[in-house]
Amino acid sequence: MKLVLASKNPKKLVELNEILSALGVEVCSEADAGVDVEVEETGSTFEENSLLKARAVMEASGLPAVADDSGLCVDALNGAPGVWSARYGGPGLDDTGRYRLLLENLRGQPRGAKFVSVVTCCFPNGDVITARGECPGTIAFAPMGEGGFGYDPVFFLPGLKKTFAQLSPEEKNAISHRGKALRAFAEKLAAYLKEKEV
Ligand code: IMP
Repeated sequence: MKLVLASKNPKKLVELNEILSALGVEVCSEADAGVDVEVEETGSTFEENSLLKARAVMEASGLPAVADDSGLCVDALNGAPGVWSARYGGPGLDDTGRYRLLLENLRGQPRGAKFVSVVTCCFPNGDVITARGECPGTIAFAPMGEGGFGYDPVFFLPGLKKTFAQLSPEEKNAISHRGKALRAFAEKLAAYLKEKEV
């Protein structure tokens, strides 16, 4: 079976193919499927935004489509930046500017936080599969580590005494919100394909 990934990120395509090839599922890019879909992420939850993206690409391509939406939820900020993680502080900021702003806004505040990832797959027959992964942690007092992207240098794992940016990609994948969501999605997809005998 072929799935289209609703994303322009080639790294996500490789990651998803690594996990789903064992199921005999091939994931292709929007370009491979001959579509180029821009979706406004207008939802207020990760579930809504991943559904918006997957449904738009499924409708444009006529093929099952899968999308993920993720972000950082900070307890002291009532779950912000959440679905706004990529846009926190407005368009003038880059990844470093965003985590610096977060550190600034958290001065003197409790540090609890979690990363969340939701993966949604929409099928042309109307079926939808959704899987969620969460990774609990805290917000460090200063950035540490060079790896990863986004808020990784300030996302601290008390059990490992390291930030996400101090882990190898394999170590991060084993415990991350996205790794958990993708593995949960693969399990649900395998059960779905078995039921449908695809
Ligand atoms: P998305 O691509 O719309 O899901 O946006 C996710 C945003 O959340 C990214 O741009 C990052 O700011 C943040 N984010 C999600 N996952 C991670 C992660 O694993 N590390 C660091 N930042 C992340």
